[in-house]
Amino acid sequence: MSNYHIKHLEEYYQVYRKSVRNPEVFWEEIAEEHFMWRKKWNKILSWDFSKPEVKWFEGAQLNITENCIDRHLYTRGDKTAILFEPNNPSEGAQHITYKELHDRVCRFSNVLKAQGIRKGDRVCIYLPMIPELAVSVLACARIGAIHSVVFAGFSANALATRINDSDCKMVITSDGSYRGTKTIDLKGIVDDALDNCSCVETVLVAKRIHSEVNMKEDRDQWLQPLLDSASPKCTPEIMDAEDSLFILYTSGSTGQPKGMVHSTAGYMIYSAYTFKNVFQYKEDDVYWCTADIGWITGHSYIVYGPLANGATTVMFEGVPSYPDFGRFWDIVEKHKITQFYTAPTAIRALAKEGVEHLEKYDLSSLKVLGTVGEPINEEAWHWYDDNVGKKKAPIVDTWWQTETGGIMITPIPFATPTKPTYATLPFPGIQPALMDENGNEIKGNQVDGRLCIKFPWPSMARTIWGNHQRYKDTYFSAFENMYFTGDGALRDEVGYYRITGRVDDVIIVSGHNLGTAPIEDAINEHPAVAESAIVGFPHEIKGNALYGYITLKDTGEGRNQDNVRKEINQIITEQIGPIAKLDTIQFTNGLPKTRSGKIMRRILRKIAHKDASNLGDISTLLNPEVVQDIMDNAL
Ligand code: WT7
Repeated sequence: MSNYHIKHLEEYYQVYRKSVRNPEVFWEEIAEEHFMWRKKWNKILSWDFSKPEVKWFEGAQLNITENCIDRHLYTRGDKTAILFEPNNPSEGAQHITYKELHDRVCRFSNVLKAQGIRKGDRVCIYLPMIPELAVSVLACARIGAIHSVVFAGFSANALATRINDSDCKMVITSDGSYRGTKTIDLKGIVDDALDNCSCVETVLVAKRIHSEVNMKEDRDQWLQPLLDSASPKCTPEIMDAEDSLFILYTSGSTGQPKGMVHSTAGYMIYSAYTFKNVFQYKEDDVYWCTADIGWITGHSYIVYGPLANGATTVMFEGVPSYPDFGRFWDIVEKHKITQFYTAPTAIRALAKEGVEHLEKYDLSSLKVLGTVGEPINEEAWHWYDDNVGKKKAPIVDTWWQTETGGIMITPIPFATPTKPTYATLPFPGIQPALMDENGNEIKGNQVDGRLCIKFPWPSMARTIWGNHQRYKDTYFSAFENMYFTGDGALRDEVGYYRITGRVDDVIIVSGHNLGTAPIEDAINEHPAVAESAIVGFPHEIKGNALYGYITLKDTGEGRNQDNVRKEINQIITEQIGPIAKLDTIQFTNGLPKTRSGKIMRRILRKIAHKDASNLGDISTLLNPEVVQDIMDNAL
């Protein structure tokens, strides 16, 4: 029996049992048979969740790009590795073969080295979804530099925070980016960010939109001439299994974004193994994940997982609505996409536009459909199943996180019977637990609780960059000897999991993880604002939208409230990015607080959900009178 490729349900259960009974043997077989090592490990796993410390394959040496590129050169050199589909369809797709990818990554690696980047240095990548993004990620990995990709929709301020937090020496960006009919001045955003970053020595600039940009002498360089004159050969840096591969920032419920640090060997094995099984990937498939490489989904399931399997992975630069709402389906037909992986918010947005956009296209190549990022509602699940998959392509509802590095709970298509809104069963190697509020594990089925993981898996983040204590406090302190996910979940009568959503102050808007604290900090910068609190409320397309309760310093008389609303959203856009704008702003005379001064978000959440019938006991509040006032003026 092969552990690597699971084909039916019985096999899943067998593999799963083995992965739990003897995790080390299980992972060792996979590592041994499916990857290229420069040196084998001395120890498969050591772990202690109380520190927390986790090490996989200690003593092993490798380079992930040898696994993702070099080893395919003889068998798949002329096969398309990256299929680039540009924003504007008339520009035409680009097929980058494994040989070409090797050439491009080596040249880029040599450019990085020539610019003084060494193993362990941090490089910030702030690029649109163009081939240079994947190539620069891989070039960092090839020379052992730690990449920190920042989604190119973040503002200058958010970018600066991330650059400074991990002390990046270099930024890789482009003149600008295309987004449907719009262009965005990325280089201008980088320039603004770097006014507040002293660590950056070099900025490499790719040309994409051919706009006029300002090049700062001694700092900024055009990328292409450097690539053209670089050698297409670059010996990969030999990395230790536990060396850091990348940092990726994610929002927390409080404070600044957390730079999650991922390791090399464990991450590689897990992203590759999950990719193979969750998408039932076969040699001639053309796989497309619509995420941006600025998120973990893109890291694991556009770049590393697919390339480690020698797959053809599509990179799409554009948006689902340009030139029209048929764009996704046009791409599916054109490239005969076999696996399609997207987010519930995209599915809902497309469903709203009607099936006429789909009907024009032949979607019969599709074998597996995926969803990720937030709970998928039943209606969206059925729309996807009926209209996109024509009830023939199983839907994999994949639950995971930036912190987990790879898919954790998911059906295995053609093996696990799917159930709408359920992520179903844990992937081999993953041991979930549901916990009650007293810290006890809830056993049995038909129960719900807080979702934890009891045992380490290879791709778990190892720390938060520069703040191991925060890593411990956030993930390993709520429940003893467990990784706490921050999500609630229920387990049904057959043991299937359904993720019910965050149990902390993280709000997921259109699949983007937003912490309330940085948004509130931005709002509070408005000179008229005394204080603010943000909660999520259900939104038809976005899943959740943001509701802000804002108290102004004076009564607001004489002030145009609509202008203040606009100004607040403008500040949020500048500080974080347009994804964090508030949908609803209610001006309040005060915010409900506990006697210790903590804002009672639970009450605000209920009011925003239009579910104020049972607010619980509010008499213990410091200021119960504001609650009625907020309810009377709720929007
Ligand atoms: C949070 C993690 C993992 C890639 C994208 C998001 C939510 C993710 C699902 C799903 C229900 C989901 C969780 C999780 N989430 N996938 N299939 N069903 N909820 O990564 O930004 O780190 O967010 O997204 O709440 O904790 P992320």
